[in-house]
Amino acid sequence: MNEKILQMLYENDWISGESISRALGVTRAAVAKRIGILREQGYVIDALPKRGYHLSSAPSGLSGFEIVRQLKYDKRWRIETFDEIDSTNAYLRRRGDELPEYSVAIARRQTAGRGRLEREWYSPASGGLWMSLLLRPSLLPDRAQLLTLTSAVSVAEAIRGLGLDCYIKWPNDILSPAHKKLVGIRCEMRADMEAVYWLVVGIGVNVNNQDFPPELQNVAACLRQLNGGKALDISAVAAAVLDRISENYDLLCADSFSLIRDKWINMALAINEEASITGLQGKETGIVRGLDDEGYLLLEQNGRLNRVLAGDMVIAD
Ligand code: BTN
Repeated sequence: MNEKILQMLYENDWISGESISRALGVTRAAVAKRIGILREQGYVIDALPKRGYHLSSAPSGLSGFEIVRQLKYDKRWRIETFDEIDSTNAYLRRRGDELPEYSVAIARRQTAGRGRLEREWYSPASGGLWMSLLLRPSLLPDRAQLLTLTSAVSVAEAIRGLGLDCYIKWPNDILSPAHKKLVGIRCEMRADMEAVYWLVVGIGVNVNNQDFPPELQNVAACLRQLNGGKALDISAVAAAVLDRISENYDLLCADSFSLIRDKWINMALAINEEASITGLQGKETGIVRGLDDEGYLLLEQNGRLNRVLAGDMVIAD
């Protein structure tokens, strides 16, 4: 009922308690109680005799309703929010077989957030966006990497769309202009040799969480710091990310990875520069030349272009 009342408040400048109670088939007292709950959630709602209620501002924290309301591309996402969870990726992984595509889990705090290669991901309750999406692309498992790159492009576009500068560092980190990490992406999937059953894209965005533990202070940054210290609306950031993912996922599903690749190259660091990649095969150093059609990094070594699928990149000074 809260969401229906909010919807009416958004659609009307002023709306009487009586109109709301009639539309919802509840008493005026029930409406007043719900308005009280919305105020507790941070909505500022004015009330005047004869005029009724007027929404003057919404909370800037996490809210599934506010995210869906701010989606512009389409409303395909089904959002579940949690105050606290072990990991939004782990949650969707547990429920991957039963939940529909486009399910989204977002938590205010994760107690066991995980990054790439099972590294710990610092996920405090102080204003980060810890979000995972469930997708069922019809991709062969060896092309799943394309979705990771697509996600990085989408998040970088969303951040730039908010007027903040950022760059992609292969394969899917988003860095600030000072090369500090703003966003990490961890993709997990259930697949066999012939099909991907589901993919979970886990996105951790440092939005307003500007107090990092000592070991992260030199390597991590948040969007708020790029925004001159002004806090951002987390729901607006989430909506921007989801919109860009919808758009780019549609391109990927329409076999247009080449368009995504061009965007990736335009926003990536180290193109035509020297970098070292440490992966399963050890350390490879070369000049980064871009991505191929299958999402492999092209590294020029001794005049030859070699393909690299995974690893950690260090850009030469
Ligand atoms: C990395 O750079 O190592 C990837 C970090 C991914 C973190 C996000 S936060 C939401 C989702 N839940 C997790 O446990 N991990 C991802």
